[in-house]
Amino acid sequence: MDLTLKLSPSFFISFLILIFLLKNPHFVSSSNPKCISTEREALLTFKQSLTDLSGRLSSWSGPDCCNWTGVLCDPRTSRVIKIGLRNPNQIVRSDEYQRGSLGGKIHPSLTRLKFLSYLDLSSNDFGGLEIPEFIGQIVRLRYLNLSSSSFSGEIPANLGNLSKLESLDLYAESFSDSGTFALRSSNLQWLSGLSSSLTYLNMGYVNLSGAGETWLEDFSRISELKELHLFNCELKNLPLSLSSSTNLKLLEVLDLSENSLSSPIPNWLFGLTSLKKLFLRWDFLQGSIPSGFKNLKLLETLDLSNNLGLTGEIPSVLGDLPQLKYLDLSANELNGQINGFLDAFSRNKGNSLVFLDLSSNKLAGTLPESLGALRNLQILDLSSNSFTGSVPSSIGNMASLKKLDLSYNAMNGKIAEGLGKLEELVDLNLMANSWEGVMLKSHFVNLRSLESIRLTTEQNRSLVLKLPSTWIPPFRLELIQIENCQIGPSFPMWLQVQTKLNFVTLRNTGIADKIPDSWFSGISSEVTYLILANNRIKGRLPQKLVFPKLNTIDLSSNNFEGPFPLWSTNATELRLYENNFSGPLPPNIDVLMPRMEKLYLFHNSFTGEIPSSLCELSPLQILSFRNNRFSGSFPKCWHRSFMLWGIDVSENNISGEIPSSLGVLRSLSVLLLNQNTLEGKIPDTLQNCSGLTNIDLGGNKLTGKLPSWLNKLSSLFMLRLQSNSFTGQIPDNLCNVPNLHILDLSGNKISGPIPKCIGNLTAIAHETSFEVFQNLVFIVTRARKYQEILNSINLSGNNINGEIPAEILRLSYLRILNLSRNSIAGSIPEKISELSRLETIDLSRNMFSGTIPQSLAAISSLQRLNLSYNKLEGSIPKLLKFEDPSIYIGNELLCGKPLPKQCSKGHY
Ligand SMILES: *[C@@H]1O[C@H](CO)[C@@H](O)[C@H](O)[C@H]1NC(C)=O
Ligand SMILES: *[C@@H]1O[C@H](CO)[C@@H](O)[C@H](O)[C@H]1NC(C)=O
Ligand SMILES: *[C@@H]1O[C@H](CO)[C@@H](O)[C@H](O)[C@H]1NC(C)=O
Ligand SMILES: *[C@@H]1O[C@H](CO)[C@@H](O)[C@H](O)[C@H]1NC(C)=O
Ligand SMILES: *[C@@H]1O[C@H](CO)[C@@H](O)[C@H](O)[C@H]1NC(C)=O
Ligand SMILES: *[C@@H]1O[C@H](CO)[C@@H](O)[C@H](O)[C@H]1NC(C)=O
Ligand SMILES: *[C@@H]1O[C@H](CO)[C@@H](O)[C@H](O)[C@H]1NC(C)=O
Ligand SMILES: *[C@@H]1O[C@H](CO)[C@@H](O)[C@H](O)[C@H]1NC(C)=O
Repeated sequence: MDLTLKLSPSFFISFLILIFLLKNPHFVSSSNPKCISTEREALLTFKQSLTDLSGRLSSWSGPDCCNWTGVLCDPRTSRVIKIGLRNPNQIVRSDEYQRGSLGGKIHPSLTRLKFLSYLDLSSNDFGGLEIPEFIGQIVRLRYLNLSSSSFSGEIPANLGNLSKLESLDLYAESFSDSGTFALRSSNLQWLSGLSSSLTYLNMGYVNLSGAGETWLEDFSRISELKELHLFNCELKNLPLSLSSSTNLKLLEVLDLSENSLSSPIPNWLFGLTSLKKLFLRWDFLQGSIPSGFKNLKLLETLDLSNNLGLTGEIPSVLGDLPQLKYLDLSANELNGQINGFLDAFSRNKGNSLVFLDLSSNKLAGTLPESLGALRNLQILDLSSNSFTGSVPSSIGNMASLKKLDLSYNAMNGKIAEGLGKLEELVDLNLMANSWEGVMLKSHFVNLRSLESIRLTTEQNRSLVLKLPSTWIPPFRLELIQIENCQIGPSFPMWLQVQTKLNFVTLRNTGIADKIPDSWFSGISSEVTYLILANNRIKGRLPQKLVFPKLNTIDLSSNNFEGPFPLWSTNATELRLYENNFSGPLPPNIDVLMPRMEKLYLFHNSFTGEIPSSLCELSPLQILSFRNNRFSGSFPKCWHRSFMLWGIDVSENNISGEIPSSLGVLRSLSVLLLNQNTLEGKIPDTLQNCSGLTNIDLGGNKLTGKLPSWLNKLSSLFMLRLQSNSFTGQIPDNLCNVPNLHILDLSGNKISGPIPKCIGNLTAIAHETSFEVFQNLVFIVTRARKYQEILNSINLSGNNINGEIPAEILRLSYLRILNLSRNSIAGSIPEKISELSRLETIDLSRNMFSGTIPQSLAAISSLQRLNLSYNKLEGSIPKLLKFEDPSIYIGNELLCGKPLPKQCSKGHY
């Protein structure tokens, strides 16, 4: 903070003279007696009670205390007039800052410095010491700075004795390592003692919640005050009136931010006609922005952001304020259009507005041409509103614009070519709109300063970038994010020359070209995100490159081919899925990519064995390898508990047994090994993976009995063992898996009855949340496929006999029941309609007898039914709406529509 602002001119000039004299020792030496010994003693005593880890006070020893660091004497009288011991390291919480902090006690010997007028102990760490009362006795003090020095407790009223004080800084944010300390003031009467001298007061972070309703009156009595900072003071009530309108007439800066002032903006503010800066952010203010602001003709800065509750339109009077430079109304509920307000600015020809943030409101309408009148504007943020229409062509007149953010609106028009005139523009964010039209070279031609561009549309490439394929732009970007806009089919020169990029997203841009190796090697040293997904990019990737900063690589859904890139990177996520990469994975993948967490390679043509070095890749979380041509056995070498929670190697040619070492992976949640040629038994060690949620081992050659420990998998959501050669009975413990929603044992050699306890599958008996599906969403794109079979039981194609147990009727959320191709007998339960959410029932090719229960027709959700090839008899219930006779055929004694056989009398 500049001293000139806070100290009276005469005081400041005497300092200037002092500094001049000190810098010219020859000038002073003759007339300058050494320091006064009683004051030297007082300083030494003061020093002794301080702690000083970094030796900042090491010069405090020689005879002449006037040349000790931080001490200044009056050149005429040699009296100590200034002590400045502010921590020289200003990077809070750094090691240097902590070491540079003075601490300990403040000795009353200071009061012996009768001429001390300046005391700065700020940014030190007094570890919760109370501000000593005796400071109130140093009555010549004009400047006192105790900010951020970890004092605590009540501010002593004795400070009110400092009747000459001009600047008082008690800002109390604490950066101590040794705890959190807070100052408070529960009675502000003492301020009246400062009323005729104080011009600067900062009590930010001082807890004033106990200061009572009169806090504003107490401050307003300081009649000379120019700056009042009450940031984060736990003030609750903002009085709606102020007793004397003459008070605070000189106030230029008022900061009441981060309090809980949940009231309307009060009218007394508009009597403070000297105000230049007003900060009222994060205060929960309500109501509309009053037009009284028109009285504040000198206002330069107005910050009403993040109140979340300010409503109504932006009053046009704000546009009339001649000095306004900085206006932040972001994060409120402001609505309506901004035309009136901007028109006012445009009338105000000399407008000086430099910063305008209206983001995160509910503003709507189109952007008016008058926007272009803001010629001095450097930052314009209109993001996260509901603006529509086009970027006006007057945008080209905003010659000072450095940052333009229109993201997250409903802009559905064109982007004016005027944009291309903004030579100062550094940061252009137009993402998340519905732009249409074409962007040409003229849109970009003079953007010499551009470093960052974000341009994404919601619609399918409704915006086209039609730049000459050989054009070399004047900018070198660091960030590019273009999604759902047409750039391709070629990978144009203007992109090829961008080699300073550290963030790249080109998603769904229609690029169907090869990308030169030189581009990848050009960006490799700085790039952190490399996302080229959903294009039709073809060709091979350069093989050996080092990407020291890369975090995420997403090349998915393109036409890349050739081998896996042998890129050396600390990236944590690699998405190569839906391409045509081929060949084996590098055996040393753990060395190339030692931080890899998520490896998505599905839907490619990779061959060879899955490298066993993956067992050494300890950060690994997801292996998503579905639909490749991997062969050999799955790695057996798992030997320590990893983060690995998702394995999908389905639809490959993996053979051999399921490795029992998988049991060490305690985090394993998703295990999808289906559609391979695995054989042998399910290893018993899997019961250790008690967090398993989704198991699909279908379509293999697995044998043996169903595991007897399934009840240990208490999170199990899906169990699919279909199309294997499992034998034996369905074990009772299966019924005790409380979260099971999908059970598929079809196409095995399972015998015996359906256990009565099936009614204990409580997950299917109650409504569910689908959180567990989230896990699947991360690992496979097929989560939807599994969602379709939610709450299903499929036991078809086994040797199951016995009857349907009545207990099954408890599974009231069952959607799919498939028992076909077994030997189940008995009748269909009369009360089957209790399964009122059934969509599919397939009981075909069993030995069911008796009549079709009438209640079947009461299941309104039923879409598919198959009862064919049983021993059912009697008439088909008339209310059953199915017209396809094939679902009933093979039951000789069944009659009625849709079967051709009519029922004889007595069959109703
Ligand atoms: C008090 O000291 C801090 C640094 O420790 C400084 O930022 C602040 O501007 C000073 N206050 C005044 C009023 O000079
Ligand atoms: C103080 O004065 C002594 C003697 O003139 C000189 O050696 C020393 O460097 C000075 N110290 C400072 C901090 O100026
Ligand atoms: C200083 O202030 C305190 C508290 O306001 C008061 O009790 C005391 O008498 C004052 N001391 C002097 C010397 O004015
Ligand atoms: C502020 O002081 C009040 C009492 O005056 C107290 O209840 C509250 O907890 C204090 N706030 C903090 C953050 O310490
Ligand atoms: C977008 O259009 C492309 C072809 O222009 C098409 O392949 C793609 O499926 C479309 N995407 C969407 C989400 O409509
Ligand atoms: C990965 O990080 C390690 C340790 O920070 C570093 O030594 C290595 O060079 C980094 N590798 C790459 C490719 O950046
Ligand atoms: C994928 O690559 C393989 C071999 O590398 C090739 O035989 C096949 O034709 C490619 N498929 C497509 C769709 O390009
Ligand atoms: C099914 O649950 C009931 C209680 O809800 C319990 O008494 C019974 O033992 C369970 N059956 C089995 C086989 O665990």
